[in-house]
Amino acid sequence: MARQNSQAPLPVAVIGAGRMGGHHARIYASLPEAQLVGIVDTDISRAHLLAQQHNCGAYASIEALLTACPDLRAASISTPTIYHRALAETLLIRAIDTLIEKPLAPTVADAQALVALARSKQCVLQVGHSERFNPVVRALSQHQLEPRFIEVHRISPMRFRSVDIGVVLDLMIHDIDIVHHLVRSPVASIAAVGVAVIGRYEDVANARIVFANGCVANITASRLAMKTERRMRLFSPDAYVSVDYQKKAGVVIHKTANQEQLDILQQQLAAEETPDLSNLDYTQLVHVDQLEIDDQEPLKLQLQSFLHAVRNRTEPVVTGEDGTFAVDVATRITEAIARHQANPNL
Ligand SMILES: NC(=O)c1ccc[n+]([C@@H]2O[C@H](COP(=O)([O-])OP(=O)(O)OC[C@H]3O[C@@H](n4cnc5c(N)ncnc54)[C@H](O)[C@@H]3O)[C@@H](O)[C@H]2O)c1
Repeated sequence: MARQNSQAPLPVAVIGAGRMGGHHARIYASLPEAQLVGIVDTDISRAHLLAQQHNCGAYASIEALLTACPDLRAASISTPTIYHRALAETLLIRAIDTLIEKPLAPTVADAQALVALARSKQCVLQVGHSERFNPVVRALSQHQLEPRFIEVHRISPMRFRSVDIGVVLDLMIHDIDIVHHLVRSPVASIAAVGVAVIGRYEDVANARIVFANGCVANITASRLAMKTERRMRLFSPDAYVSVDYQKKAGVVIHKTANQEQLDILQQQLAAEETPDLSNLDYTQLVHVDQLEIDDQEPLKLQLQSFLHAVRNRTEPVVTGEDGTFAVDVATRITEAIARHQANPNL
């Protein structure tokens, strides 16, 4: 990956001037390490609107952008998922480092093709699993956890966005990525149920994923709920974790903090048939750690991390392989849902 490594701001562009593209453009425009040179949208009026806000060029295609800005170094793709592969190929073929919004692609074959192309062109390919940069997840990463069970709820009201994909690829994929990041083991089996209410793709889904190392994850996602909730609970041999992504709060309860007292208790339990433990205060036996959570914007951290990988030619925090894993598991979940719909007694 031998490329020029000057400290000049990196010329970057945003492809897709919708809701997420607006956030990418706002953040790039605010970062000293980037120079936002262009916005691309097939709806040129949208491109113009966003480009005017940030004083850069507006283009109807990547080709037009590259003609005007031949020095472009990197770009974010924030279009509907069905266009990710074709747009990313146009950039990667020209060796432009690319960040693609999640999900990486609609199919595993598309995702794998992008990973292979990025590798052959020695390009940085990062996937926009922005929850990895959520302060709650970052705080959790400071703890050594060996999850045995993870329960996740990610529910929200219908906003009629991303209806080109189902709730598994739209919302659950965030948790598939985080769970995989925490468990670090291949998937052994998947069971799932789901229903499509509004369109042809599932709007509510539950998946039970069993990992090769024995960990079980039970993930529920809905885009038809009356409220918004994003919670994860996890237990491991040494700790129980409860986090609320929305409230940016979390707690880790370690048993090892008071191992001596626990040992005495366990001896008592082993020695007596019906021990009287009514005077015991459970909270004295464990160590409760409130997660230390900073208030940084996940998307900003994600783009800074992408620019860092581009400038230093390093592996991005969320790789194309991570994105492919998430698409693969999401696909297997939707296939399990289809099987269950065809035969609920399975
Ligand atoms: N990281 C997250 O938390 C998060 C949240 C929401 C959405 N997303 C992802 O971001 C992406 C975009 O979602 P959104 O909600 O911003 O969508 P959106 O519909 O608001 O915007 C998409 C934009 O892309 C443009 N577009 C469509 N085809 C194009 C093409 N071929 N070339 C250039 N522009 C094109 C559209 O005109 C539109 O302006 C999706 O992949 C979605 O899954 C990520």
